[in-house]
Amino acid sequence: MCGIVGYIGARQAASIVLNGLRQLEYRGYDSAGMAVLGSDGSLQIRREVGKLGNLAQLLAEAPVEGAVAVGHTRWATHGPPSQRNAHPHRSPDGRIVVVQNGIVENFAELRSRLQGQGYTFHSDTDTEVIVHLVHRYYHNGCDGDLAAAVRKTLADLKGPSAIVVLSEDYPDQLIAARLGNAGGVAIGLGEDETFIASDIPALLQHTRQVVFLETRQMAIITRQGATYFDLEGQPLHKTTTTIDWDPQAAEKGEFAHYMQKEIFEQGRSLTDTLRGRLDFVNQRVVLDSLNLSAAKLQEIDKVTIVACGTSYYAGLVGKYLIERLARLPVEVDYASEFRYRSPIVSPRHLVLAITQSGETVDTLAALEEARKGGAFTATIVNAIGSQAARICDGVIYMQAGPEIGVASTKAFTASVTDLFLLAFYLGQERGILNEAERTELLQAVATLPGLAGTLLEDAWQSNFYQQLAEQFHGFHNFLYLGRGINYAIAREGALKLKEISYIHAEGYPAGEMKHGPIALIDEKMPTVVIAPRDSVYDKMVSQVEQVKARRGAVLAVAHADDEYIRQKADVVMPIPKIHELLTPILAVMPLQILAYEMAVRRGTDVDQPRNLAKSVTVE
Ligand code: F6R
Repeated sequence: MCGIVGYIGARQAASIVLNGLRQLEYRGYDSAGMAVLGSDGSLQIRREVGKLGNLAQLLAEAPVEGAVAVGHTRWATHGPPSQRNAHPHRSPDGRIVVVQNGIVENFAELRSRLQGQGYTFHSDTDTEVIVHLVHRYYHNGCDGDLAAAVRKTLADLKGPSAIVVLSEDYPDQLIAARLGNAGGVAIGLGEDETFIASDIPALLQHTRQVVFLETRQMAIITRQGATYFDLEGQPLHKTTTTIDWDPQAAEKGEFAHYMQKEIFEQGRSLTDTLRGRLDFVNQRVVLDSLNLSAAKLQEIDKVTIVACGTSYYAGLVGKYLIERLARLPVEVDYASEFRYRSPIVSPRHLVLAITQSGETVDTLAALEEARKGGAFTATIVNAIGSQAARICDGVIYMQAGPEIGVASTKAFTASVTDLFLLAFYLGQERGILNEAERTELLQAVATLPGLAGTLLEDAWQSNFYQQLAEQFHGFHNFLYLGRGINYAIAREGALKLKEISYIHAEGYPAGEMKHGPIALIDEKMPTVVIAPRDSVYDKMVSQVEQVKARRGAVLAVAHADDEYIRQKADVVMPIPKIHELLTPILAVMPLQILAYEMAVRRGTDVDQPRNLAKSVTVE
């Protein structure tokens, strides 16, 4: 959840690390800190509670010069947000510093062991045991060999950790190491300068040449590059990945928030998601990176989708799509549940993880369960080179570009589009879809980016959503209803509203209304219904009538020319017509904009809502 940035080169390290941290602030943001190896050879530490701006101000008031530094944004696990709990943490003599992303599960035991050896703790964090252990081994047993001391320290730790170590005694190197699924460690290779970051947006301004550390690997990083070892000290050869993301894609540009930018660029991001995957000559979808051989595909008799949060809701749409187009049974599970319920997994199963970050700890653990059971594993993932992409048998990239706003928007529509492509692909390879169906579906999906672009452009040009939010942002509870393929959109719309505006919202399958939630409806509880003209349209209309009969306001996502709904509902959020199986991708967009505008009116921190972090790398 935390963000780590390191730099070693010839330039002033503090500003480079600070800029890198800005790109990662979405990962966690209750405090931040930095250690710079000053030109006099001493480590200077600056730490501050709150947003990164506070650390930036501290550095402006008390600048530090030096060409080697490591920085951190924190999302508290052990110990409340405070200056003393902010990273970096230092050894008793102040000569070694450590930043960490992850959790030391046995920290109580290690802490009392270290206290018994005379160490005094100055914070409540688990990280402080790491720096004391490194110090201890450095002076006792490792004979001043810092890399060996780091290795021995990692052997003592339980739980996932990604760390960076800097020492006054080794002014020309940084050490990075990774244990378990603690979030990424990406090493960016420049010209006579090298960078470390938890995630690639922090590197894009400087380099596209990146090496990723796997679990149980470490790197000794110098200005000239890095050397790699496993945790037994054996040298490793690592391959360099070229990242093709445009650095500007990680900038906010003219938009007020990243989330706003990411909503309104969905016309383009969907074009990228589809690029190279539609073969109109042969009426096929091309998904080579899935790596599913014809023989393996014939064996598959079940798909299990594992994911968390918004990605889980994409999975619910995926179930609908795969069952419909490929006639394979699909189970969708929260990764956090799947991993702990001894799931039944067999080599005949395709286990599909959906994850924007590719680093969500529960999703990675669910994939491990799937691998243990011998399943074919695949991931729909956005972050290039992330852990999910590296450990799965097959990968389908979302190609949405960096998503910085904590609330997921363009990654959701990209995942659902990828799920559509996967469902089509499985249907085509299994011989389920005939040529006419394939032609119809391919033509429909090809219109998706254009229709999304039009919907978003119309919304951008008008002040419709601002007015709507003005009218409704004072309400405390909302109900979202959807049915069939759009049931998941009700869940996702409600999640978007609650996570950024802090308004309570529930997403419900419309058919379940009468079995409980209808008791809640009155004039204080607006209902959002997703009611395009699809196979369950009539049922949704009767839902609107039932809400209206109880004096509830109805906000409907419906086709622009649907006069009938316009008469019944209080408000219509218009979407263009498209093939029913693709409606979720358009229907979610008005709900994203509505949530965004409501949050803006309520004055919340849209891009970094309280208590949330973009990559959930701890349990
Ligand atoms: C909500 C949101 C989260 C994520 C969830 C999974 O807007 O962003 O619910 O969807 O934490 O994250 P990934 O997709 O990175 O595994």
